[in-house]
Amino acid sequence: MSDWSHKLLKWYEINKREMPWRGIGDPYKIWLSEVILQQTRVNQGWNYYNRFTEKYPTVTKLAAASEHDVLKLWQGLGYYSRARNMHHAAKEIATKHKGKFPADYESIRALKGVGDYTAAAISSIAYNLPYPVVDGNVLRVYSRVLGISTPIDSNEGKKKIWEAAGELLPDKNPGTYNQAIMELGSLCCTPKNPNCEECPIQAACYAFTHKLTDKLPIKTGKTKVRERYLNYVVITCGTKVLIRHRQGKDIWKGMYDFACIETEKAVSTEKLVKSKEWKELFATTKPVIEQVSEAYTHILSHQKLNANFIQIKISKPLKTVPEGCIWIEKKKIDKYALPRLIDNYISKYF
Ligand code: ADE
Repeated sequence: MSDWSHKLLKWYEINKREMPWRGIGDPYKIWLSEVILQQTRVNQGWNYYNRFTEKYPTVTKLAAASEHDVLKLWQGLGYYSRARNMHHAAKEIATKHKGKFPADYESIRALKGVGDYTAAAISSIAYNLPYPVVDGNVLRVYSRVLGISTPIDSNEGKKKIWEAAGELLPDKNPGTYNQAIMELGSLCCTPKNPNCEECPIQAACYAFTHKLTDKLPIKTGKTKVRERYLNYVVITCGTKVLIRHRQGKDIWKGMYDFACIETEKAVSTEKLVKSKEWKELFATTKPVIEQVSEAYTHILSHQKLNANFIQIKISKPLKTVPEGCIWIEKKKIDKYALPRLIDNYISKYF
């Protein structure tokens, strides 16, 4: 083990944050925590973790839940496909593995939605197996410590760092080491203004000794963002509102939103009411526009959603409801799993 690894581990013992999933060795809970931490910060993740483990204390309990209940509990975290995949994988464990969490890397990696990162985290933290974890924090730390200037958002950069991480991983307690390097990235070797004065491995760090901490890591920034324009049509009739259960390959599968006319560009309500889709939707009933929301922008990893909500009252039912739509009591909308964009709108306008 390198000299600086000792220093890192010592620093970790003193500075590590207490987290409910640390030191328990339960692969199911470690899996859950790692999936949650891929998309949120520790403080917010803690609440979700507690709610999840209270409702589903074991993988078998999670497997027995309905997909909708799982999505509802996940509401607000985003990346809902991760929750659906976890639920699917829990069912695989319940059937194929007879309820026992697999204990080798290959079987863990084969579970639905489990990638290299999560498989390495579970294997090393729960079972002490020697697999290096490489998340965004680790990419940044190693890029700086080792002076790797290949962009960390390129496959080549990731591969280089992953190989280096494998070589540097100690045989003894790889799970602790993996967590220590992630913790260093969260608490000390931060993206902006890293706290090098507190860093236990400052002397070994290439970026520090060459005054390059603000230059490394390098990113190509080539992530393509697709811009979309969602004109939501929020139709109410008496005490009811029409909501849509999202299916298919698009974002938010399994969640609920409203009927929607998607356009290539931003369009005004005046223009929208002249569209073919609008005329089809309201072929047999006269829509009364009650209000039009302000424009909402919602950023996902690869999409920028521009949304507005046109709230409409009708007194006669629609001839046909759009695909996937159902009428529900307006006051029961909170029972449904809603993406944050929809929840934000409802909090303000419902
Ligand atoms: N980020 C994601 N997983 C982590 C862990 N187990 N420890 C510290 N930071 C993390």
